[in-house]
Amino acid sequence: MTSSPFRLDGKTVLISGAGGGIGRSLVASFRAAGAAVIGADREAGMLDGLDLAGQVLFDQADPKATRASIERHLAAFGVPDAVVSNAGFSRAEHLGQVDDDVWASELAINLNGAYAMTDPIVAAMAERGAGSLVFISSVNAIAHYGNPAYSAAKAGLVAYAKAIAVERGGEGVRANVVCPGSVRTPAWDHRLAADPTLLDNVLPHYPLGRMVSPTEVANAAVFFCSDAASGITGTVLPVDAGLTAGNLRFVDEVLRGK
Ligand SMILES: NC(=O)c1ccc[n+]([C@@H]2O[C@H](COP(=O)([O-])OP(=O)(O)OC[C@H]3O[C@@H](n4cnc5c(N)ncnc54)[C@H](O)[C@@H]3O)[C@@H](O)[C@H]2O)c1
Repeated sequence: MTSSPFRLDGKTVLISGAGGGIGRSLVASFRAAGAAVIGADREAGMLDGLDLAGQVLFDQADPKATRASIERHLAAFGVPDAVVSNAGFSRAEHLGQVDDDVWASELAINLNGAYAMTDPIVAAMAERGAGSLVFISSVNAIAHYGNPAYSAAKAGLVAYAKAIAVERGGEGVRANVVCPGSVRTPAWDHRLAADPTLLDNVLPHYPLGRMVSPTEVANAAVFFCSDAASGITGTVLPVDAGLTAGNLRFVDEVLRGK
């Protein structure tokens, strides 16, 4: 059998937020590519039903607890070949819903916690001389689509990934960023509970005429962790059905007169 550079047989990947909508697809896609998966989440129940080789539990809003939990895992089980930093959370939809506490809380979960989780792993990967990280950021890191505090955190992940790429590249560590557009996961439940027809308003913004699936996001992360991406580091890849390519509604409403 010819081994494909797109496969991950014999590799171990640690995935945070593994029990969420995109997280579950990440686990399935990495398993399909041949990797063993360590699932990380807030509580064990979130990981029910997943095909995992191990698990790590922490509240990513608490950086000290997050770092301690990862350090215990590294000491007991060694360093994974790859990490997907995927856990995330936002409830403050626009500036009117942001104050100092909300800003601090959304930065804590989405940026500070992601740093606390990955920093000990980056150090161990650098010592080993190999490793790959993927940060699940958002189109909100590229342009403003609401959720201002979350967006600042997601843009911070881009800067952090580039710091790893530049400063740890010489030690064999790669870091890349995936920026999903809207994905129908439990992260949308609270919005759809308030307005069940909301997705009808989302679709006209997307050049492909649809949202992306969790699997399409996961496939990009698998690619970045594979040898097929061995020369790629410090990049930011939108998986967004064309959202950030331009403004479809401007073209439709102003120029095509639709
Ligand atoms: N769904 C979208 O439209 C969308 C778009 C762009 C980016 N993203 C990003 O994709 C990632 C996954 O989102 P999703 O749509 O699967 O959401 P989700 O709500 O289904 O899953 C989020 C996961 O993160 C975990 N998590 C949240 N807070 C945590 C905490 N304090 N400690 C530990 N774990 C915590 C949850 O338990 C869950 O497993 C997030 O980083 C999100 O920002 C999602």
